[in-house]
Amino acid sequence: MSILVLGGAGYIGSHTVYALKEAGEDVVIIDNLETGHIEAVHPDARFYEGDIRNRTFLDSVFEKEKDIKAVIHFAANSLVGESMVNPLKYYDNNLCGTKVLLESMLAHDIKKIVFSSTAATYGEPERVPILETDRTEPTNTYGETKLSMEKMFKWTDKAHGLKYVSLRYFNACGAHESGMIGEAHNPETHLIPLILQVPLGKREAISVFGNDYDTKDGTCIRDYIHVTDLAQAHILAVKYLLEGNDSNIFNLGNGVGFTVNEVIETARKVTGKEIKAIMAERRAGDPAQLIASSEKARTVLGWNPQHADLEEIIASAWKWHSTHPNGYAK
Ligand code: UFG
Repeated sequence: MSILVLGGAGYIGSHTVYALKEAGEDVVIIDNLETGHIEAVHPDARFYEGDIRNRTFLDSVFEKEKDIKAVIHFAANSLVGESMVNPLKYYDNNLCGTKVLLESMLAHDIKKIVFSSTAATYGEPERVPILETDRTEPTNTYGETKLSMEKMFKWTDKAHGLKYVSLRYFNACGAHESGMIGEAHNPETHLIPLILQVPLGKREAISVFGNDYDTKDGTCIRDYIHVTDLAQAHILAVKYLLEGNDSNIFNLGNGVGFTVNEVIETARKVTGKEIKAIMAERRAGDPAQLIASSEKARTVLGWNPQHADLEEIIASAWKWHSTHPNGYAK
């Protein structure tokens, strides 16, 4: 039995492939390397470079890899800011790409898929911690396309019996314990890698986007979840589907929120360096607080995050960034 990982050269995709290989699985990867990195492709996985919008290409992989039993789908664009200036790029890759993928999967009778969704499907939360049943009103195109993908799966399930698990991640962070793979976005927009650019000498200071939110220190609160814990949730979700269970949606977070200031303070402690922070304007579209309730994933999937400690998360990110200051680039 093989598992096909779409987007397996990206940040969360590559960590999931490493976890699958550590669990002894046979893995096939598809990635167009637009934002993924060839260096992040696991050496023992079979890799096909190509785009999920290309039906002929997808069909050729399914025809060659006859043993694929389930798909894990990470292949999408995921920058909130970019999605607001170029929304059609997001509709094209995230939605049109997924439509082509589902057509090809159905044609080859593959009916199990685990898929990356996001806290951005909720938009401004009604309350925290957020439950899967809470209102979904995305405030950006990225979140809207992910929510539409979930609906595409829902109706495809009703018509064709395709079973899916949608995993709504909160703030993915950290890196593999080996230090071999980690977070490498270009441009980087995420808080922890940007903070760590300061002690690396690549950035003079970290800008704190707003200190007048209704939170304990005025800065935004997020639920930071280690990428290795996310990877484990994908393995459990595949198992859940292969056992014949029904389609489902799960939040993935630790259920604990940290302010931007607390994250910076923890990074100072971990790196032992002074990290200069400067106050800046709020960033458009940032909710004050996003904290997950992941009770459902714990109860139904048996998910049990192992790296909830923020110091440990930042230490793993620091191990990666300090040894790869330019990401995968030489
Ligand atoms: N932040 C700063 N300075 C920076 C970068 C970020 O203060 O230089 C703040 C943000 O305002 C936010 C927090 O740090 O309050 C975290 O920001 P990130 O950009 O790291 O993450 P987001 O919470 O904006 O985004 C995450 C995921 C997205 C997802 C979104 C859901 O990365 O994929 O949650 O809202 F869409």
